[in-house]
Amino acid sequence: MLAPFELDWCGGASAARLRRRRPGIDELPWESLHAETLDDATLAAARTTWTEGAFSEYASAAAFAALAGALLEAGAPIDLTAMAGDFVVDEITHVELNARLAATIGGAAPHLVDLDKLAPPRTDHPAIARAAALAIKICVVGESLSVPVLATAARVATQPLARAVLARIAHDEGPHARLGAHVLAWAGDRLDPFRDPLRDIARRALAAYAPLWRRRPPPPNPSTRALGILDGADHARVLRRAVRARVVPALAVAHLAPDPGWIDELLGDDVDAPRAA
Ligand SMILES: [Fe+2]
Ligand SMILES: [Fe+2]
Repeated sequence: MLAPFELDWCGGASAARLRRRRPGIDELPWESLHAETLDDATLAAARTTWTEGAFSEYASAAAFAALAGALLEAGAPIDLTAMAGDFVVDEITHVELNARLAATIGGAAPHLVDLDKLAPPRTDHPAIARAAALAIKICVVGESLSVPVLATAARVATQPLARAVLARIAHDEGPHARLGAHVLAWAGDRLDPFRDPLRDIARRALAAYAPLWRRRPPPPNPSTRALGILDGADHARVLRRAVRARVVPALAVAHLAPDPGWIDELLGDDVDAPRAA
């Protein structure tokens, strides 16, 4: 059921524990951003971006929780499972960062969500195949695409708080992406019976991002860029490069890369050789 996206904070022992586990959040330059210095369009764009950002990080937390569950059910190595569990806390921290950014400029934008549909649907496949499928969707595709987007956003942001928050999030996301390769390497040839459905999952996960580079971008806005909100054209360029430079190579190692012709078609014909984003 759709309901407004709202976040709560318990305080006390749980807040103290989170602060011990993920220190430095209160020390970011929260006092440097003032809503009254932003024009209406920039303010609206920032509220929307940071509200959607908070929910996207919330969904990532649910996804890593599902991956941790599948790894436990598959009897995966304990350190690998611990990474997935630890990343739930990273993502929750990113939720907090986005929510606090929005709060700094007057609060979140209205955003309806269906939390019942938040967790990735569970299939009937054995746990090792479910873990691999989640690792592909969440890490090899999703996180690998978000790493260069966040790094670029942190680089272009000039407003101190936005820059600090984006740098903090970008710093965490690299290991999130690499967990996918670790899971696939651990599963190894036990995934052989599932290669075709896993290849299909990778293709569908990639195709879900295509609207982000196929849409016509709005004109650039220097004010939102200063807050680390990438112009549509920049966003599309970074994503398309990352498909070739990050996602396809990671899938290829696990013999799951889509056909090159399929990738060319997905991206259009004006992205050439692989480059680091
Ligand atoms: Fe995140
Ligand atoms: Fe992440």
